[in-house]
Amino acid sequence: MIESEQIQSKKFEDYLVSENGEDLFRKTQKVYEILKSGVMTGNEGLGMISIEKHQGEYPIKEKNGKVHKVIMLGSNSYLNLSTDKKVVQEAQKALEKFGFGMGAVSNYAGITEIHQELEARIAKFYQKEDAIVFPSGYGANVGIISALCNKGDVIINDSANHASIFDGCKLSGADIKVFPHANMQALERVLQKIPDEQTGRLIITDGVFSMDGDIARLDVIVELAQKYGCKIMVDDAHGIGIVGKSGRGSAQYYNVEDKIDLNVGMLSKSPGGLGGYCAASKEIIQYLKLYARTYFFSTALPASVAAGLNEVFKMFEKDSAGRDVLWQKINYLKEKLTKEGFDIGHSQSAIVPVMIYDEEKLFKIHSELRQRGVYVNIVTYPAVRRKECRLRLCVMKELSFEQIDRAVEILVELDNKYHIRKSFV
Ligand SMILES: Cc1ncc(COP(=O)(O)O)c(C=O)c1O
Repeated sequence: MIESEQIQSKKFEDYLVSENGEDLFRKTQKVYEILKSGVMTGNEGLGMISIEKHQGEYPIKEKNGKVHKVIMLGSNSYLNLSTDKKVVQEAQKALEKFGFGMGAVSNYAGITEIHQELEARIAKFYQKEDAIVFPSGYGANVGIISALCNKGDVIINDSANHASIFDGCKLSGADIKVFPHANMQALERVLQKIPDEQTGRLIITDGVFSMDGDIARLDVIVELAQKYGCKIMVDDAHGIGIVGKSGRGSAQYYNVEDKIDLNVGMLSKSPGGLGGYCAASKEIIQYLKLYARTYFFSTALPASVAAGLNEVFKMFEKDSAGRDVLWQKINYLKEKLTKEGFDIGHSQSAIVPVMIYDEEKLFKIHSELRQRGVYVNIVTYPAVRRKECRLRLCVMKELSFEQIDRAVEILVELDNKYHIRKSFV
């Protein structure tokens, strides 16, 4: 058994490595015991079960079996496309025709014309020559980066980039440089220090940052990339279908669409399905199909998902997925939170952080919100630094204004107990 004082002084990262003389799996037993004993707080809010589809408000099942309704502010299906009638119908047709799994990797017998159509639609959406679809978004980043970058190359990252980007960088063997989030002067200082002979250079940034909801300064990044001879990869997981004048994402927001070399995105967020993609030149895509190991060695996306996504991209092409309604809800929530004095950072998307800055309070607030019928995501280490911990609210098109009002009211009530607002009105 582990003493409770010992437990309280330890943190998540203390259980990543084995101590000297310990059996390899001892750390897993320790974490199991701690969670079971209930001494370590913070995980109560994790692991809910959805009882119905993700819409504005719906029943969930807690770990103790209790079923209750929550206002859903924790889903990335921002446009509710995962439950869109036409999208689901198209998925059903393909399900009937091809079954529920592909049984092979894409380069063997894993793809259909539906998959090819999806790649063509994504390429067209970005006005690029070609596109590749990976069966997972995480795997897309890992595969693309580790295929294109190698020992001797250098990758320059915003510190807030997604974990899958950093994992891809590590696997690539390239030199990894990191600049503080959104600090363009710091990016230039990093670029100035790269030796002239190191010419394989890639700047990688999230388009919309997944924890802050702000948009990368692609206008500046494009200029710096040209000045210092770098290629650019943008992971627009949270931008596609939402930001930019017709929903084509962060590059469109800054009008630099033709300057991005690797347009990466996830099919799991606003598109509502699963998978990841890259749109780029035909040479790059052909290379990735052979060298990206998470593509080559991983079974293809189910045809049903690809078929649903084709319907989604038809809507994206016409900008008819309901972005205007989503933006009304985003702006409404942001205005309410700001008026009430909450610190929401610099969100420019459907991701709205509510900064708490105190992990103990964060866990308690998160738990109480949930008990009172509001589901939000909890964000702390390892996703962000502990002192920047926060709640992360994700807005969905189908949330009603009344549901948003109620969620903010509950937050305000909890603030009377925890004092998290930066200013009081
Ligand atoms: C910016 C970003 N990139 C990549 C991913 C991974 O995508 P997926 O969840 O589809 O594997 C995520 C999802 O968490 C993300 O937020």
